Amino acid sequence: MNITVVGTGYVGLVTGTCLAESGANVICVDIDVEKVNKMKAGIVPIYEPHLDVLFQRNIKQGRLSFTTNLEEAIKDSTIIFLALPTPPGEDGSADLSYILGVANDLGKIIMDYKVIIDKSTVPVGTADKVTAALNKSLNERFAKDTEGKPTFDVVSNPEFLREGFAVDDFMKPDRIVIGSSSDKANAILDQMYAPFVRQGNPVIFMDEKSAELTKYAANSFLATKISFMNEIANLCELVGANVDDVRRGIGTDTRIGNRFLFPGIGYGGSCFPKDVQALAKSSSEVDYDFKILSAVMNVNQTQKTVIVPKIKDYYSGNVKGKKFAVWGLAFKPDTDDIREASSLYIINELVEAGAEIVAYDPEAMDNVKTLMGDKISYTENEYSALEGADALLIFTEWQIFRNPDFAKVESLLKEKVIFDGRNLYDLHQMEKLGFHYNSIGRKEVTK
Ligand SMILES: NC(=O)c1ccc[n+]([C@@H]2O[C@H](COP(=O)([O-])OP(=O)(O)OC[C@H]3O[C@@H](n4cnc5c(N)ncnc54)[C@H](O)[C@@H]3O)[C@@H](O)[C@H]2O)c1
Repeated sequence: MNITVVGTGYVGLVTGTCLAESGANVICVDIDVEKVNKMKAGIVPIYEPHLDVLFQRNIKQGRLSFTTNLEEAIKDSTIIFLALPTPPGEDGSADLSYILGVANDLGKIIMDYKVIIDKSTVPVGTADKVTAALNKSLNERFAKDTEGKPTFDVVSNPEFLREGFAVDDFMKPDRIVIGSSSDKANAILDQMYAPFVRQGNPVIFMDEKSAELTKYAANSFLATKISFMNEIANLCELVGANVDDVRRGIGTDTRIGNRFLFPGIGYGGSCFPKDVQALAKSSSEVDYDFKILSAVMNVNQTQKTVIVPKIKDYYSGNVKGKKFAVWGLAFKPDTDDIREASSLYIINELVEAGAEIVAYDPEAMDNVKTLMGDKISYTENEYSALEGADALLIFTEWQIFRNPDFAKVESLLKEKVIFDGRNLYDLHQMEKLGFHYNSIGRKEVTK
């Protein structure tokens, strides 16, 4: 089975590598020459746990290769994945220019039947637009003579992987959603995915539009769950309740479930913010006011910097000249992705107010350096960030921050003060250790 994956980001590279691991021959195409050169040299361009081993093995065994040449990449493949960016446009709708641009290019070069699989997250109706773009360039190409004109099917196959668990999620998906009206395409995808669903996890076939909406519905529902819990946390602080207890109290109800109930400093990343926004925009385009989504977006925007007034209050409104150690920059642990990370919003506000930031993150520092340069400084490990800092601020729940040497933390900080945006520590422990400890939705521990 020969497969082409167009776009080698978090989704495309994981998809390509995992399909190669199942025995397929996979060619990955990207327009980023530097990225392709890195991959050709055996370097994984992103941080994603467990990806490196599979990546190296499949390159070595000749099943995984990389190119910048789309024509060469699709020549021998019946299956073509589009794993391209769909960033928010100015009005919040998903920008389909990457996808439609490649669809148009494919119409100019395909020579035989292809299944074009849209793995990007796209609004309802995109499969039709991809079909139209392909048809347009094919019709131009075969305007005079239709002899040899190839056929194709467009399938919507949304991806549900989570960064940080992407390989596991792809290899053992909860479900695979296939939106297609072609029996021929369905049979090809069924065969391709068979190695990944041997334990009976369902492959759910539906039409293209339902598949497109399924992905937005899933992400928007999860974002709603997070925002709901963040509002409960804010209320807990006002009424003196403990969000940990409330979370356990409701999470044990099987109708609710215990996942995505942890409060914090808002959701970020490349998916939830843009997908909620895009679903709201798609709804408004058909004159439907999806009220919950507006609330979710508002709540999240406020939550991202909910910790800033708390920090300012502690310093009587003035953080000018204060030095803060930051643990965690990535939007979540086990990734180097900083897109829409709450850390960036908080840091900007604190720097604007005159504070100095010394940050440590196990994987995301290079990306932040590219974005922020020397606006803040960076350290080699979590402890050196603390040297002479007025307080420790925690923005990402990396495992290594969960059980630090508190004696060392105390000895390095100027004052025993922690603002924790991810509720990593036990309140009784903080009380016993004598820290001033402020977290989300729980009582403030004072020295
Ligand atoms: N990141 C996630 O966790 C995740 C999960 C599920 C779905 N998605 C969706 O999948 C899509 C891709 O997301 P991502 O995070 O992998 O994006 P990404 O930005 O990490 O990667 C996209 C890649 O496409 C390449 N590219 C752009 N134009 C190209 C072209 N014309 N030809 C070839 N390559 C091109 C870019 O250089 C980049 O390497 C998005 O729609 C996203 O919403 C992402």
